[in-house]
Amino acid sequence: MQDSNAVFLNGICALLMATLSWATPGVAAPSLIEQGEYIFNAAGCAGCHTAVKPKGAPLAGGRELKTPFGVFVTPNISPDRETGIGGWSKADFVRAMREGRSPDGAYYFPAFPFASYAGMTNDDLAALWAYLQTRPAQVRANRAHEIAFPFNQRRLLFFWRLLYFDGTTFAPDPEKSDLWNRGAYLVRSIGHCGECHTPRTLLGGMRLDREFAGAAKGPEGKRVPNITPHKPKGIGAWSPQDIVSFLSDGVLPDGDFVGGAMTEVVDNSTSRMTKGDLRAIAEFLSSVPKHAGP
Ligand code: HEC
Ligand code: HEC
Repeated sequence: MQDSNAVFLNGICALLMATLSWATPGVAAPSLIEQGEYIFNAAGCAGCHTAVKPKGAPLAGGRELKTPFGVFVTPNISPDRETGIGGWSKADFVRAMREGRSPDGAYYFPAFPFASYAGMTNDDLAALWAYLQTRPAQVRANRAHEIAFPFNQRRLLFFWRLLYFDGTTFAPDPEKSDLWNRGAYLVRSIGHCGECHTPRTLLGGMRLDREFAGAAKGPEGKRVPNITPHKPKGIGAWSPQDIVSFLSDGVLPDGDFVGGAMTEVVDNSTSRMTKGDLRAIAEFLSSVPKHAGP
């Protein structure tokens, strides 16, 4: 009798301790952190927020992004209090991702793909935030962007936002399958594929009337291919399995290897997605409107 009581009490204690350690403020449940890591990789946060030449500390920022408007230099998003976002609240983070605004209300430049990330669900944003807290803090002061007047005026982004930013959270289409909806969410929001594969207007907004039709001048001024099911301009000749294998190992159906800006996307993001998620992306991409071009 005494023995079973002791076992019972031990069980209760272990349960209580487990609950308490999960409930400690600031320490998220391991499963939430894992979910956050998955989103972090799928969304490619590390690539843009880590300097490449010379190689910088992870998430300390300093990567230069060349655009027609000038050079953007990514900020430090590690949890350092002084130079990173260590002093931010979760609400500050959600506002940045969903509204494209800093804690003091300033508008972010769309070189930060918040127009896509805005679609992320509350759950995924909470998980991403929890994961970011677990990254090592890096001390590195932010560098100013090198953007010419008038494009450097954040206030003017008010007009850009009226034209190109709707900020709505992804809502599944009840007419479509779960697989299609998961693919749409991954492509349009988390994976922000359209940020490169959709052509832009002169003001740098995504032309949604030609979604995924490719761009003659994408990142670094290089051509980005059409990924709509158009034949022969897009990937209409690819089977869903071709799309899945390309995204998992970077090998094109003709046996060639991926190059340019897509190398990083495959290495850091899509090759780390589950096969189920890659199938969802293939399902969605096979169904989008066909466009010729770029
Ligand atoms: C294509 C490159 C790119 C990707 C991918 C990217 N960012 Fe950024 N991010 C930027 C740029 C550029 C800025 C600066 C925007 C500005 O100054 O207006 C920025 C700003 C931010 C800020 C605001 C920091 C501050 O100090 O105000 C946060 C937070 C942020 N990014 C988080 C993320 C997260 C989380 C991810 C992944 C989900 C991510 N970013 C992916 C380019 C990127
Ligand atoms: C940073 C910009 C960028 C992002 C983000 C991006 N791509 Fe790409 N993608 C490219 C470039 C550039 C190429 C051409 C690569 C080459 O030259 O080998 C490419 C090639 C491809 C191809 C091969 C097309 C062909 O005809 O060869 C597919 C399929 C593709 N991307 C799908 C995606 C999907 C799905 C996503 C989102 C998960 C995505 N891309 C995100 C820039 C990007």
